[in-house]
Amino acid sequence: MADFQDILVVKESPLAIVSINRPKALNALNARVLTELGQAMAALGDDPEVRVILVTGEGRAFVAGADIKEMKDLDLVAFRQFIAHGQKVFYQIDTLEKPVIAVVNGFALGGGSELAMACDFRLASDKAKFGLPEVGLGLFPGFGGTQRGPRLLGRGMASELVFSGGMIDAAEALRIGLVNHVYPADQLMDEAKKIALAIAKQSPLAVARAKTAVKMAGDTTLEAGLAFERDAMALVFATEDRLEGMNAFVEKRKPEFKGK
Ligand code: CAA
Repeated sequence: MADFQDILVVKESPLAIVSINRPKALNALNARVLTELGQAMAALGDDPEVRVILVTGEGRAFVAGADIKEMKDLDLVAFRQFIAHGQKVFYQIDTLEKPVIAVVNGFALGGGSELAMACDFRLASDKAKFGLPEVGLGLFPGFGGTQRGPRLLGRGMASELVFSGGMIDAAEALRIGLVNHVYPADQLMDEAKKIALAIAKQSPLAVARAKTAVKMAGDTTLEAGLAFERDAMALVFATEDRLEGMNAFVEKRKPEFKGK
């Protein structure tokens, strides 16, 4: 794995923890963070020892958005490139063939909420705060918030967040379905690892196809989604892991999946 300046990558096989590491800037996403995040995700996606990736932030923020100071003086072409860069890296996370869990330890604002939305699901500390405050800067969410927000929360709830620019706490995020669970801050990472390890015990080939199928549900017609589901299901039926899973059930033992 390459040396990174603005992110930390810790491998605890079968898990990997990626932390955005610019705590003095509340982990604001500049071009370098985006580049490093993309490189880390590509490497972890290819690493057979890694089954689940956790994304979090160092210090008191998850990510307080795109870096306003870096964006402020960009010309139009450079700004568009920056937005395209963020969209590309978040799409890479969204479509990575491994589960990626957002472990939201603090502020998740603007691009930070959008990063969390690009992950498969979100777990939050009771200190987390979410919001899409871009309209207060004369912008609106540009790293996927206007697309993933409505898919995740419904149009009405997403519109309120996007148009008002307001912040919500972890309890409200739980109520609207933005996060799956809220934990006391000092238990967040341990609880996240427990969920990740439970996923990591399953067949990685089945989990990867399931991720693609679940994602398709929000993006395509029922007919196309069902067609993908049955073909992908047939594909995993042909794996050694499927045989191992069914044999283990019949033999009353725990399966050992090899990702084959
Ligand atoms: N970009 C750059 N720097 C940021 C930042 C951001 N998004 N968010 C925080 N920082 C910096 C602050 O400038 C400050 O740096 P200095 O010490 O050098 O002044 C440092 O982080 C600490 O921040 P605060 O002093 O503001 O801390 P606070 O506790 O008083 O407030 C906060 C915390 C409410 C999160 C506040 O920092 C804030 O409102 N941040 C901006 C949030 C925001 O608007 N995000 C959207 C960005 S635009 C975007 O994301 C576009 C998109 O869709 C891609």
